[in-house]
Amino acid sequence: MKRFIFIAALCFAFTFFVSSNFAFATASGPKLFKEYYCINCHTLGHEGGTVGPGLSNVGKTKSLSWIKDQILNPAMHFIMGKKSEINGKVYFIRMPGFKKTIPPAAVDRLAAYIKSFPFERANLAYPKLPAGLALFRDDNCIACHRIDGVGGKVGPNLSHIGKTKSLSWIETQIVDPKVHFTYGVPVTVNGHTYLVIMPAFKDISASQLDTIARYLKSLK
Ligand code: HEC
Ligand code: HEC
Repeated sequence: MKRFIFIAALCFAFTFFVSSNFAFATASGPKLFKEYYCINCHTLGHEGGTVGPGLSNVGKTKSLSWIKDQILNPAMHFIMGKKSEINGKVYFIRMPGFKKTIPPAAVDRLAAYIKSFPFERANLAYPKLPAGLALFRDDNCIACHRIDGVGGKVGPNLSHIGKTKSLSWIETQIVDPKVHFTYGVPVTVNGHTYLVIMPAFKDISASQLDTIARYLKSLK
């Protein structure tokens, strides 16, 4: 009996150990990048803050271990109390070190994520983005809509909008959504319910409207 209890306790402890580490062991790079607030200061790909330098191209010139050091102890690379200049931009805010807050396995994962970042694609980063996608960002459509996983959830995902909607339908939706949806009323699109609140972009220029609508129409 004693032995049974001992084994049961061992099993329990082991399960607990595994499951408590599970979150860190499986959290993906993008998730960790958000969880540890990197995204508040840094842009990676098309999303993030500008307090610190953009990281989409860091992996091109910096080694994996350099990036790990930067996360754990930025003072190794940037002198405290001095402004730093990166790619021609001056940064006043010092990056905090994460030695005490991020478990080693998560640091590895984060560094690998930044290092492996597909900078060819990220290089399309503004202003080399497809013109329609740049406008989608500029006009803040992205605050409410997602394309390929990036953006808000206030409105429907637009990653495949071109499959079902015509060019003129999309144009009308942008300049006068009330033609399609009754303002203030819930609507269900692809199984998700949204409150109809999309603003009418009445002042958008004809050429911008054309660019953005054609871009959305191309998303199949
Ligand atoms: C409070 C804002 C802030 C947070 C949060 C932050 N950083 Fe930074 N980061 C900076 C600043 C500012 C710099 C520029 C160096 C300096 O001045 O310390 C920098 C530099 C870097 C660099 C070097 C960039 C280059 O081109 O040399 C990397 C890599 C980096 N940060 C990764 C991260 C990661 C990963 C996280 C999350 C764990 C993170 N940062 C969190 C502000 C921040
Ligand atoms: C404040 C949030 C918000 C902003 C900003 C916004 N939308 Fe919307 N959008 C919505 C919501 C909510 C809907 C659902 C119907 C409605 O409200 O008209 C919608 C619907 C759509 C649809 C139809 C989706 C479908 O599957 O039927 C398209 C296309 C669209 N928006 C494009 C855009 C574009 C392009 C922009 C930027 C110029 C934009 N939206 C800006 C919230 C927004």
